[in-house]
Amino acid sequence: MGNKKTLLALGFFLIFGVMSLLIGSEATPPSPVVKITPELKEKFPLKPHHEKLSFKCVDCHAEQGDDPENFKAIDDKGCLSCHKTKQYLADRLKFMDALHVNPHNSIHDGPKLYCDECHFEHKKSDNMCLSCHSNDVKIWMRPTP
Ligand code: HEC
Ligand code: HEC
Ligand code: HEC
Ligand code: HEC
Repeated sequence: MGNKKTLLALGFFLIFGVMSLLIGSEATPPSPVVKITPELKEKFPLKPHHEKLSFKCVDCHAEQGDDPENFKAIDDKGCLSCHKTKQYLADRLKFMDALHVNPHNSIHDGPKLYCDECHFEHKKSDNMCLSCHSNDVKIWMRPTP
């Protein structure tokens, strides 16, 4: 009888010991489970280029908790975690430099502008340059993706 109890106690001791070791040695806490309903997806639609990559909310809203309604906008750092650097983006649209109409490397600001001066994810983007140059330069009359 006594032996069984000691064994049981020892068993618990072992299990809790291993568990606390595991928890203690874990470098990062597991990411919270974010429940995404069809309604939420409809409320926060993605741009087609991101949608077709099947991005999850947390691919952009990383470490913003588990309540999707309370996610916050992501800044340049968020976009650039995948899109590299502002200079890299400027170089990709280099063919527009000839007319000085590269939105990523403008004659006014160079490659310094914030992404959200033009690009939005859940709503229509808006090329800030057009607020002043609405009709001058046809090459960036395409809608901002
Ligand atoms: C998790 C990674 C990731 C994040 C974060 C991300 N993107 Fe993307 N994005 C991609 C990938 C991958 C593509 C498709 C490949 C490509 O064109 O580079 C893409 C495509 C795009 C395109 C279309 C490219 C084209 O050729 O038409 C635009 C515009 C864009 N992203 C802007 C943004 C902006 C602005 C942000 C920040 C709000 C952002 N992305 C955040 C990965 C990401
Ligand atoms: C001044 C407005 C403006 C700003 C600021 C801006 N973009 Fe753009 N971006 C555009 C426009 C306009 C296009 C489409 C150009 C074209 O006609 O192909 C574009 C195209 C893109 C593309 C697709 C072309 C490519 O290079 O692959 C990506 C990706 C992109 N932007 C990401 C970003 C990110 C990330 C930031 C912030 C670092 C940013 N943009 C800042 C206006 C802007
Ligand atoms: C490709 C990156 C990306 C993905 C994926 C993404 N978001 Fe966003 N989210 C943004 C950006 C950028 C903003 C800033 C506002 C905007 O651009 O529309 C934002 C803003 C938000 C906001 C704040 C809105 C406000 O008015 O302040 C909420 C809430 C949100 N997103 C929820 C979601 C949900 C839910 C999902 C998944 C269904 C999701 N997001 C997927 C980039 C993303
Ligand atoms: C607040 C208004 C405003 C915004 C926004 C703006 N510009 Fe300008 N831009 C001007 C003015 C004013 C001039 C000088 C016009 C002139 O000399 O005739 C100018 C001049 C230019 C020129 C030189 C034209 C020439 O005659 O050589 C280019 C190219 C240009 N802008 C591109 C851009 C780009 C790209 C963006 C977006 C990143 C942008 N602008 C945003 C007001 C603006």
